[in-house]
Amino acid sequence: MNIDWSSLGFHYTEPEYIVRAGYHNGKWEEPYATTDKYLHLHVSATCLQYGQEAFEGLKAFRGIDGKIRIFRWKENAKRMAKSAEGLFMAPVPEELFGRAIHLALEKNLELVPPYGTGATLYFRPLLIGTTPRLGVGPGKDFEFIVIPSPIGPYYPGKFHCTTFIVNRYVDRAAPYGTGQFKVGGNYASSFRATEAAHMMGCDCLFLDAKQHKFIDECSAANFIGIKGNEYLTPKSSAILPSITNDSLMTLAKEMGLKVTRRRIRLEELADMSEAAACGTACVISPIDKVEDTEKGVTYSFGDEPGPVLSKLYHALKDIQYGRAEDKHGWTEVFEI
Ligand SMILES: Cc1ncc(COP(=O)(O)O)c(C=O)c1O
Repeated sequence: MNIDWSSLGFHYTEPEYIVRAGYHNGKWEEPYATTDKYLHLHVSATCLQYGQEAFEGLKAFRGIDGKIRIFRWKENAKRMAKSAEGLFMAPVPEELFGRAIHLALEKNLELVPPYGTGATLYFRPLLIGTTPRLGVGPGKDFEFIVIPSPIGPYYPGKFHCTTFIVNRYVDRAAPYGTGQFKVGGNYASSFRATEAAHMMGCDCLFLDAKQHKFIDECSAANFIGIKGNEYLTPKSSAILPSITNDSLMTLAKEMGLKVTRRRIRLEELADMSEAAACGTACVISPIDKVEDTEKGVTYSFGDEPGPVLSKLYHALKDIQYGRAEDKHGWTEVFEI
């Protein structure tokens, strides 16, 4: 495959192989690679009728030493198992998840971008309910799919800031709803708000659905704020437990920051020197401003990424690219 790595955006590039495994009669089949990207799916499948679907996102990096490192895939496997339980689906066993990721990588090795391009190989694991059903209820057959796709660097130029808009008219997820799971319905229900924000050249900050007082999360990323020597991140039952945030919290503690996960009132943004969204796609996406248009308030954090978040960003990327020691065993070097 002839790929111009430097011009790859954050878009889908068709891989040669995807990996699939079905679940029938209470048993998972062994994952297999296929070039067929289409499903022969019944029109009444529970994923189509009732949104019985969960997904994940993780990356493999070509390191400075030429080795391929997969970042914390076991955490994605655990999170997908929780999402599966949340939607009454059969969880994908961790070892099977791992075998599917490894097979997808092995069959698409030429899609791992070279070191220095900033591009990575992204994996999209997907779990869907396939049982035909018209009466409301869960299915008992499932399909697990891993779709690999090389993606360009999140910051093709330099590491830069994004503006966020406070949203109060669309709730992403209810306090005891599905916000803690990575399921398609959460994203579809956010589109009205996220697309409106994108049309204004911004991203969307979701508040807690019950009171619209506390910060929940950014559209598809957790929120982080720096206040003095403190790393603050929201505690909420409606947000996705981010693996990037978890890694950054560990690094922040090692850098001597106090790490606090608690409910954060929106107005507390005024006391923060730096703010950012964090997730697999961007690692850290620094925020220059949060605009609360309804209240006529703008919270500003400067036009350039701040020193603390920049340090954390580089520290995590250095581990992912094999430039720094991986003390926590977060990366798995892929050997064929
Ligand atoms: C809603 C939401 N929150 C947070 C995250 C960040 O999670 P992670 O760091 O595991 O990618 C994501 C992306 O996966 C997301 O979609």
